[in-house]
Amino acid sequence: MCGIVGYIGKKQASPILLDGLKRLEYRGYDSAGMAVWNGSQIDALKVKGRVAALEKLLAGHPLEGPVGIAHTRWATHGEPSDRNAHPHSDSEGNVFVVHNGIIENYKTLKQQLEKEGSVFSSDTDTEVLAHLIAKFLKTGSTLERAVKKSLTLVKGAYAIVVMAQSEPETLVAARLSSPLRIGVGADQLIIASDPSAILNYTSQIITLEDNEVAVIKGVEYTISSLKSDTVIDKEVEQIEWDLAEAEKGGFDHFMLKEIFEQPETVRNSLRGRIIVEDGRAVLGGLASVEERLRSIERLTLVACGTASYAAMIGEYMLEEYAGIPTEVAIASEFRYRKPILNPKTDAVLVLSQSGETADTLAAVKEAKEKGVLTLGIVNVIGSTIARETDAGVYNHAGPEIGVASTKVFVSQLTVLALVTLLLGRQRQMSSVMGGRIAEALLKIPEQVEVILAQSGAVVAIADQYKGFQDFFFLGRKYNFPLALEGAIKLKEISYIHAEGGASGELKHGPIAMIDEDFPTVFIVPNDSVYEKNVSNIEEVKARKGRVIAIATEGDADIAKIADNVIYIPKTLEMLTPILAVVPLQLFAYHIATKLGLDVDRPRNLAKSVTVE
Ligand code: F6R
Repeated sequence: MCGIVGYIGKKQASPILLDGLKRLEYRGYDSAGMAVWNGSQIDALKVKGRVAALEKLLAGHPLEGPVGIAHTRWATHGEPSDRNAHPHSDSEGNVFVVHNGIIENYKTLKQQLEKEGSVFSSDTDTEVLAHLIAKFLKTGSTLERAVKKSLTLVKGAYAIVVMAQSEPETLVAARLSSPLRIGVGADQLIIASDPSAILNYTSQIITLEDNEVAVIKGVEYTISSLKSDTVIDKEVEQIEWDLAEAEKGGFDHFMLKEIFEQPETVRNSLRGRIIVEDGRAVLGGLASVEERLRSIERLTLVACGTASYAAMIGEYMLEEYAGIPTEVAIASEFRYRKPILNPKTDAVLVLSQSGETADTLAAVKEAKEKGVLTLGIVNVIGSTIARETDAGVYNHAGPEIGVASTKVFVSQLTVLALVTLLLGRQRQMSSVMGGRIAEALLKIPEQVEVILAQSGAVVAIADQYKGFQDFFFLGRKYNFPLALEGAIKLKEISYIHAEGGASGELKHGPIAMIDEDFPTVFIVPNDSVYEKNVSNIEEVKARKGRVIAIATEGDADIAKIADNVIYIPKTLEMLTPILAVVPLQLFAYHIATKLGLDVDRPRNLAKSVTVE
């Protein structure tokens, strides 16, 4: 996720672009840049760091002129740095591009362009677009045609805005799977990732759809499809959001927005990483250690909080499907227990959204001191943990602003499934089994959409239960760690006492607590432990306990014993937590908001825990 803005009109572009970038900073903040046409040439400034760093740079080197593009970055390819910041340009500095998304086939395109003489100056996927467009401009294409020709060659996701010295009073914008809007003012047009960068200037907004290309010259715009030049008559909407609402995409909180982003999050975590026909995962970040991974005989997964629950689910995946003995350690305990690690046959895999969690970082250092291979599943590119580990996989979930982790948890599970596929196929997993996992993974985004479409049912259940003071969350096998996640989500944002555990442990003590005032959320999909879970539900019901069940679509029997049921679509057992977590997040969110709490900034918590 990145933020992009483009301006064309009668005013100075740079202050409007800068204002837009500040409002889009929630979409990414590791580097920023701007290019402006000053009447005779396009000048660009780019800098690592937040938009404030760009603002400082602009104060010393103002960019003046009425046409420009700007970008605030959340790195996906190439670490945050001045050279990797957008806009990106071709070898001759004719074309300037800002991009949000991922170009999956950029390596192949880059090799081809290099053979043809292009000289690249960044490590990004985006730069191929600038070189491709420049190449087509040289053969006489207009900017519009050059952009269209280039986009038909790329695979992946993009929202782009392009400008060129050769056609300086034109901006070309296009999108596929990444948002882009155009604000239509009386004498100016503003293109941006979301309305928050537009609403200060106009509330008349057009939403570009996938495969649409907008060409803006002065205050005239035309929109056509990528594949044909027929003009599309687009509706101009009147958007009445206030600015704070706009940043949250119209949602009341970032947490809810991030819950609703999860289909896209899973798509981004999977993008370009699966070969269904071979039942294989391709994880570029692990390529350098792929041979070493073949000789790994034991994995230790280390993380904190929600990330550690994702790790516990990963433990079940890796043991069942990759056949690798795996254990999970909480990072704050790992080094104090003097872990026994064999440098030849052990690997330590850490999970961290922020990549800065002090305990997790200490675990990486401990493992490195013991000479063990260290791997990371990290969301923030270029973060300390990403740099300290020997190799790893990025989540590509974009910035998570809500303090309670939601979309990154889902992407951690997605990436763990990919790692399982990779390691499994290196060992005993057949291509048929691999293909089954790959296909099931590709269905997850749509299945999450199905669950989100029923969020109204969860709101009603949250309303019914908001007055209770204590909750149990229970599940078995893959969904035992998910029960821990359900409990932490509820307690961290609602301050209601919640305990998570394994259903089978109920009768070893916790059942003493059950009465009509102590409800239990059971995660009970149709899996290999379904009957055992149902027996535990019966035990709770026999003690007058209320039960909310998360069950598989079509399971009518569960509705006969549970007080409330939330249904999730059928998937492979190992992937059920990716679906079942969604109602748990919504349940916690709606209870907390009904209690009037600030879910994005819960008391006593911080997004990045950099103290031990
Ligand atoms: C809970 C939550 C935390 C984090 C934990 C690890 O919703 O967000 O439990 O999961 O603090 O943080 P990272 O993943 O940044 O290492």
